[in-house]
Amino acid sequence: MRFGHFDDERREYVITRPDTPLPWINYLGSESYFGLISNTAGGYSFYKDARLRRLTRYRYNNSPLDMGGRYLYLRDNQTGKYWSPSWMPTRVKLDEYECRHGMGYTIIQSKLNGIRTSTRTFVPLGQSLELWQLTLTNDSASDSDLSVFSAIEFCLWDANDDATNFQRNYSIGQMEIVDGVIYHKTEYRERRDHFAYFACSEDLVGYDTIREDFLGSYRGWNEPQVVESGKSSNTEAHGWQPIGSHHVNVKLKAGESKQIIFILGYHENPKDDKFDPPDSQTINKRTVMPIIKRFLKSEEADQAFADLRTYWDNLLGKYTVSSPDAHTNRMVNIWNAYQTMITFNMSRSASYFESGIGRGMGFRDSNQDLLGFVHLIPERARERILDLAATQLPSGGAYHQYQPLTKRGNNDVGSGFNDDPHWLVLAVTAYIKETGDWGILNQPVPYDNQPGSETPLFEHLQRCIQYTLDRLGPHGLPLIGRADWNDCLNLNCFSDSPGQSFQTTTNKDGKVAESVFIAGLFVLSAREMAELVKRIESDALGLSKSQTSKVNLTFDLRPSTFYMQAASDMESTIWSHGWDGEWFRRAYDDFRRVLGSKENDEGRIFIEPQGICVMAGLGVDDGRAQKALDSVEMHLATPHGIVLQQPAFSKYYLHLGEISSYPPGYKENAGIFCHTNPWIMIAETRLGRGDRAFDYYTRINPSAREELGELHRCEPYVYSQMIAGKDAPTHGEAKNSWLTGTAAWNYVAITQWILGIRAEYDGLRVDPCIPSAWDGFEATRTFRGRVMRIVVHNPERVCKGVVKMMMDGSVVEGNLVPLDLAAGEHLIEIWLGVKNG
Ligand code: GLC
Ligand code: GLC
Repeated sequence: MRFGHFDDERREYVITRPDTPLPWINYLGSESYFGLISNTAGGYSFYKDARLRRLTRYRYNNSPLDMGGRYLYLRDNQTGKYWSPSWMPTRVKLDEYECRHGMGYTIIQSKLNGIRTSTRTFVPLGQSLELWQLTLTNDSASDSDLSVFSAIEFCLWDANDDATNFQRNYSIGQMEIVDGVIYHKTEYRERRDHFAYFACSEDLVGYDTIREDFLGSYRGWNEPQVVESGKSSNTEAHGWQPIGSHHVNVKLKAGESKQIIFILGYHENPKDDKFDPPDSQTINKRTVMPIIKRFLKSEEADQAFADLRTYWDNLLGKYTVSSPDAHTNRMVNIWNAYQTMITFNMSRSASYFESGIGRGMGFRDSNQDLLGFVHLIPERARERILDLAATQLPSGGAYHQYQPLTKRGNNDVGSGFNDDPHWLVLAVTAYIKETGDWGILNQPVPYDNQPGSETPLFEHLQRCIQYTLDRLGPHGLPLIGRADWNDCLNLNCFSDSPGQSFQTTTNKDGKVAESVFIAGLFVLSAREMAELVKRIESDALGLSKSQTSKVNLTFDLRPSTFYMQAASDMESTIWSHGWDGEWFRRAYDDFRRVLGSKENDEGRIFIEPQGICVMAGLGVDDGRAQKALDSVEMHLATPHGIVLQQPAFSKYYLHLGEISSYPPGYKENAGIFCHTNPWIMIAETRLGRGDRAFDYYTRINPSAREELGELHRCEPYVYSQMIAGKDAPTHGEAKNSWLTGTAAWNYVAITQWILGIRAEYDGLRVDPCIPSAWDGFEATRTFRGRVMRIVVHNPERVCKGVVKMMMDGSVVEGNLVPLDLAAGEHLIEIWLGVKNG
């Protein structure tokens, strides 16, 4: 069953009943001010950092679900009846309800008691504020007399402290209310130079800023005393829980409409000009007033909304497809690209499953996010690459996470996740292929953010590879460290007391346990390095000898042959010690025992090495890759996606760590960890098996799962990190939606490998590997400033194999669209078929 439907024309998902299985959310903001908003107006907002600069409060893991948000109440002043136009928090049944989640905005519409409302919420580009445009229409035959109450609860900035340190924070809240604007200025008197404000376009009947006065003690947001009585208390908060509520009176004749605008904003003042007058404790409002005035005008708000639409039109216009499959089209053209962008912005910080107070930006995660995002805003990808590389350590290893506000590596987690550096190689090479910005390799970047330690970015990449070469184990495979991509495979941490960290309580010397996954990843990244260096050697690309010497390499520039050799040595090691006969093994533990092998009773076959090794090219030509992928199909594939391993671990194994802590079927213990599924899709395309690649793509495609709403439960417009595996009682149920590497990797799998359009150093490759049932597809891809209109014909109904390509009407050899095309638009036509001879 469904809870809504897609409106592809408007790029919206339309939710048609408020009681979705879980709150179905959207994100507001794209630069520094962000918000999460659910289909019933739940959620919260923050400036840059969801932990340190949180504007409004949200109660995670609460009952009823989804408490805290951008609430409005309407009250019929004649009858005293009141309700929430977003259903929550009063849950008064509405006659009509609809929520439209769009690109950076959400519109909630409803109707009750003859009053129609529509609230459009979004963050104008370039601003640190959100607008709520509320339109009220009297659809009844008689005049109406309404009270409108707004309500938000301020968070006292540091969300962690706000939720824990009550002995302090019950005493620090401070407000100002001036000309109907509610200013939240907790801690402004001391070290903060920022405040929040909540403004309304109308004259107020009253206001509230004290939670207890507004709700009444022992009452909830579902029945605020002020709303019930229709009388605001007009009191100013001192300590306790500051809130913001405006009370507006609206009289509408039959058929009449009115718009009210609310602004929730964040503002910083210069440190030496915080107060007005200077010797007072009153906020200087001269700098914020013009902003408030501007956005309280509906023409300005409408213009800002139109600008936001244009922004997304431009971004999403960079890669569009029209294929025979509607699910593919809407994910590629709209939702998957959008989710990739959100993931890039948020990393894994703030969702309805990530509280915003946990981890910062992941090194591995952010590098992978970039793979799906780089063609959208390459400038931001560049900045992110340099930030990430600056948290790398001189050893070539990296801090596993860093804080977005300070950009410093996070010491609590530290380093030693031995796969980390290789993702930087993949991100940088993807960036250069997309942009041709070879100059980035010359950019000086420090290690561990230490001034004076800078080397060109290129040397960082050399150190990434060297890091693994310096850490090989007894079989010559890479040592795993704290974990590899699978954070929960902790072979050096024998954790036996509750609460101990599985990743950081390292109590083995780490010189034994090895990862076949990292070995495969190494082959992939060393081959990327070889390709990159080949081009530097050929000297055509601006990083000539003289330039590399200018940039202070402390390493010699290693020849491409070095990287090719390193890759093929590692490949031989995998064949000797990482191949199990029918699939790739997973690891060797601290006792040198194999994992992911026929020898194991549990954890006999894992998905990760099958995906990554075949992506790196292992066994593609000799049948072994096919064997590995057939084993995946036989042992791991389910109708809801491919599980991480089998058989699931039935109990906790001290020597394996967190992976065996989860009950069977969940998370890394044999859940469908969606992030890894696209690796298998890509691997299948390496073998030319487009039917199977696309079948796997469809199994986890959220749009294709829309009908399974009651089982899937999470949003049908974005990927979730996990779907419960076949060992779980809830097989098919999704969890942890939105912030997951699944977004970027599925985007890469479908756009670059199934549709087969991918950036390379020398041009745009068009090499589709599609379902044989397709008669073709069309796509538009902006690449290096040119617009490629790509038409693929598949008259013989094959999966793969380009037999002819035409560019602007002339036949061209091969299937690479070269770089030296004239500016403007080009028509690329491709025919798939069976090659003769
Ligand atoms: C989470 C982490 C990611 C890790 C994965 C598997 O998604 O963010 O870094 O690779 O889990 O453990
Ligand atoms: C936990 C999660 C795992 C995630 C890791 C990140 O172990 O189970 O999915 O990758 O935290 O640190």
